[in-house]
Amino acid sequence: MIRAAIIGTGFFAPENVVTNDDLAQIIDTSDKWITERSGIKERRWLAMGEDGRTVLNGAEMGAKAAERAIANAGIENSDIDQVIFATLNPDVAFPGNGVFIEELLGLNTAGAMDIRNQCTGFVYGLAAADGFIRAGTAKTVLVIGGEIQSTALDKSDRGRDMSVLFGDGAGAVVVQAKEGDQGVIASVLHSQGRYARDLWLEGPVATMEGRIDSAMIDEGRHFPKMNGQIVFKHATRRFCESINEVLEKGGFTPEDIDLMVPHQANQRITDAVGQRLGLKPEQVFSNIAKYGNTTAATIPIALAEAVEEGRLKKGDLLVTVAFGSGFTWGANLVRW
Ligand code: UT7
Repeated sequence: MIRAAIIGTGFFAPENVVTNDDLAQIIDTSDKWITERSGIKERRWLAMGEDGRTVLNGAEMGAKAAERAIANAGIENSDIDQVIFATLNPDVAFPGNGVFIEELLGLNTAGAMDIRNQCTGFVYGLAAADGFIRAGTAKTVLVIGGEIQSTALDKSDRGRDMSVLFGDGAGAVVVQAKEGDQGVIASVLHSQGRYARDLWLEGPVATMEGRIDSAMIDEGRHFPKMNGQIVFKHATRRFCESINEVLEKGGFTPEDIDLMVPHQANQRITDAVGQRLGLKPEQVFSNIAKYGNTTAATIPIALAEAVEEGRLKKGDLLVTVAFGSGFTWGANLVRW
């Protein structure tokens, strides 16, 4: 049986570390509040160059993560026939970041597709890669999750509930058609648009001549907004539901999981999910303390770190799970 096997992982985290204490210098917040509410101690925010732009763009961060994943997989760039780039923050309004990866890595006209599913982008991207491979549309797919959050955040006291949570970074996996047990066993994907406005970035808007005006800017509608408590409640419930659903599809139970790599949204969410499913600490991966929430990038960054730390071994049963803006949520069940 042909399966979509993850054969390489890599990540890129910008050098510039921003600690909770650094944030407390510019925003009315504290290390104690951020640590207790989210588990985050520090995050990476791309440094600014003299030209007033970040020193790297999102596609360049994605390409760095991808180069590491390609080297880790032991393949050549020319082996890739499809790029899937998950981000809620493309570098420009269009085209999406996928085509810039084609250019940066010299992929010789490989297909490029962008996924706009926010924190759930990587889970959707891996499911799409699995679909392409099973259908014979592609043999080797590069799935990247990458985000620049730092330039979009409201770094005044008004935006403190959001700005302390998010970070920049990119992660990538190489997914290849393989005969055997290794690979994606099942995925589940869900959405509920009635909650779209509980976590969104409204402007610029397509329906407005010029797309944005000074009233929108004055009201801060060009910054992301979140109803934190509603997101928290739904996230915890949907994480558990989708893990159980994807396990059931594969004929497994929570105790069969070797490693759960959840979207790194909040340590309290991860802990609540682990507790509800009766998972042991060694079954759950967390690195939110170091990077914060990098939306579509959290899972591929975590996968690459889990591999480096020897937490994922051949034959292990892996579950990736995410929830985010949309609301969207889902999970992948993978034999490593
Ligand atoms: O990736 C998916 C998207 N995001 C998530 O999954 C995040 C889900 N939600 C959360 O993680 C939590 O709701 C937060 C971490 C965002 C907030 O935690 P909370 O326990 O729900 O706090 P809260 O919103 O109820 O706010 C409690 C207090 C408020 O003050 P008052 O009204 O009680 O006086 C806030 O104004 O904390 C205040 N607050 C802050 N204080 C210090 C909000 N942000 C901050 C801050 N520093 N950065």
